Amino acid sequence: MKKIGIALMGLGTVGGGTYRILTANKDYIRKVQGVDLEIMHILERDMTKVEALGVDPAIVSTDVANIVNNKDIKIVAEFFGGIEPARSFLIAVLKAGKSVVTANKELVAKHWSDLEAAAKEGGAGLYFEASCMGGVPVIRTLTEGMQGNHVQSIMGIFNGTTNYILTKMADEGLEYADVLKEAQRLGYAEANPSADVDGFDSMYKLSILSSLCFHKRVPIDKIYREGISKISKQDIEFGKQFGFTLKLLAIGKLVDGKIEARVHPAFVPDEHPLAGVKGSFNACFIVGDNVGDIMLYGRGAGDLPTGSAIVSDIVYCAKQTEHRYCPFDNSAAGVRDEDFAANFESEYYVRMTVADKSGVLAKIAGVFAKYGVSINSLQQTAEDGKASLLFMIHKTGENNLNQAIAEINSLNEVVAVDAVIRVM
Ligand code: HSE
Repeated sequence: MKKIGIALMGLGTVGGGTYRILTANKDYIRKVQGVDLEIMHILERDMTKVEALGVDPAIVSTDVANIVNNKDIKIVAEFFGGIEPARSFLIAVLKAGKSVVTANKELVAKHWSDLEAAAKEGGAGLYFEASCMGGVPVIRTLTEGMQGNHVQSIMGIFNGTTNYILTKMADEGLEYADVLKEAQRLGYAEANPSADVDGFDSMYKLSILSSLCFHKRVPIDKIYREGISKISKQDIEFGKQFGFTLKLLAIGKLVDGKIEARVHPAFVPDEHPLAGVKGSFNACFIVGDNVGDIMLYGRGAGDLPTGSAIVSDIVYCAKQTEHRYCPFDNSAAGVRDEDFAANFESEYYVRMTVADKSGVLAKIAGVFAKYGVSINSLQQTAEDGKASLLFMIHKTGENNLNQAIAEINSLNEVVAVDAVIRVM
């Protein structure tokens, strides 16, 4: 059986998990998959990680040339994350004819076409199953399991950190800042949590997945993005009373032939399967025109779950006789403004604090009417000369709603528009 040399760039959480899976399952993969994978080189500067995993230090260095110049290394798995040096290193190994397997969603979302051009030049493959939803095989589902469909929409919880925070806020009645602090203490959230809580991580994943769904490049600048840092426990509580669960959703869909792509908090009806996805789990709801609804669920992060997707890509790559490339133009030149929706429609939950005086409600209703925004229901509570108004708004265009909210915010009688949350 042909031996296939593997190199790992980095031995952090996912790199370590991948090393453990590859070594523990070496014989099993040989027997069941018919490929003999041998780890030949590892790039890592932290020797404590090398020792902790029992790696032979003779195969460890910090010099990418040791991979580029080794003819027996055929597949390189990258775990550095971020753009540089990952981008330069991967372009060098791809041009040298070594296939790349990566979990690096930011790199693929931003530099997919550069990486693919280098892969074509070297006759190598580029695989990134682990970049989206960790261990959940969503990319293989889209590319190998849905060929008989036009995908109409993808909607997912792609970020475990934010789902953990929102679940804890809902289940324990806690405020965002307190849960975030605890999540950081426990190591579930990064010291700088912006990539997760501001929706960047979900946006990168949505860029990759919606491009694969709609066979057109969906660059990150075409994705609306809003994070969870302004969510209050009060809104989560009100949502519960209406039968909704709050989630950070990533949504890609075709509306009248145009792509709509957005990441934002949304109230999901409790009976929808995504509402039941709790804690740090990820899930994804895909609709194909022939298959109908598909839902995938699982761990979107972690050493072994993400390592599972990396190993799956390594085995898949090792078995290819010819690498397949992206079937559409995934470069900036392939992006046409007219393929993307400029406005989108949604139902809304709007909460505001106003002066408890005669005529205030009529004024606010007048502004909504001026912009064609129709109120579905209203709840009011008043105390100490102030009233809290909670509107549920019928489906309306985002632009109209925003104009109405801006004008309402400028009224003297309005203390604040406290929350505007989309309802799915
Ligand atoms: N930070 C991500 C999450 C995992 O919380 O889901 C990697 O994308």
